[in-house]
Amino acid sequence: MIADFSKLFHQSSKDGSKGHPPIPANFDEWPDEWKTTYYKSYPRLPKIGLEDKPPAADFFDLIKRRKSQRDFSRTPLAKYELSILLKYSCGNTGPLEKGRSRRAQASGGARFPIEVYPIVFRPGADLPAGLYHYNVKDHALDVLWERNFSDEDIHQIFTYPWVKDAAVGIVMTAVFWRNQMKYGERGYRYILLEAGHIGQNFYLTSEALGIKCCALGGTMDQNLERLIDIDGVTESVVYGFAIGK
Ligand SMILES: Cc1cc2nc3c(=O)[nH]c(=O)nc-3n(C[C@H](O)[C@H](O)[C@H](O)COP(=O)(O)O)c2cc1C
Repeated sequence: MIADFSKLFHQSSKDGSKGHPPIPANFDEWPDEWKTTYYKSYPRLPKIGLEDKPPAADFFDLIKRRKSQRDFSRTPLAKYELSILLKYSCGNTGPLEKGRSRRAQASGGARFPIEVYPIVFRPGADLPAGLYHYNVKDHALDVLWERNFSDEDIHQIFTYPWVKDAAVGIVMTAVFWRNQMKYGERGYRYILLEAGHIGQNFYLTSEALGIKCCALGGTMDQNLERLIDIDGVTESVVYGFAIGK
């Protein structure tokens, strides 16, 4: 039963033999892989550079106004809007320490296991329809597949029929190893929690940009994994978003 599975996982990933492994207090004693930031990149594919200057916004007002919106109008996003959305939800925002970068979201152990794939349904003046990967290091889109998405194509990857009227579908995947090589079974919790941090940033950043946003547990994971060309095991879909106007 589902409830038994979550109980089993939650209990067995509490502090204990399958919980946190011991982590030396001294950073210098950590294995190199705990200190390395792993970025996914597609060096042979073309890139689209993104913009960086956010609009002014009142933080508390954004929290009050945030809500899930599903009444999209098939209007495209401008590249600027997608740029700011990505940078301020999951992009590099400044130096962390020891040559590493901080991001818009908190990350257990700065392991940054989440990858983000925007799927542009509605071509705009400066952004063709297609499947992209957000290249965090370069703040750019890796162009995985420039192509159109029909309503039926969209329905094959997102459960809800209104997603077809969004401008962009966003898929978050997890590269589990980046986190679990340090935190073991318990790391699975941290990965999903981090996806939630990014998700809240999508909501607030969308609000600041005056665009609409809805979280999507309703993703067709296996179809998305085939589309993105990931194996669904070492890297797998964890969360989705519909963004539009
Ligand atoms: C993890 C998660 C998954 C969600 N999945 C969906 C979804 O698949 N479809 C949907 O319409 N809304 C989804 N939502 C949005 C919730 O329905 C929404 O946040 C809730 O009704 C509260 O409304 P509000 O966000 O406007 O405050 C999801 C929210 C979260 C946090």
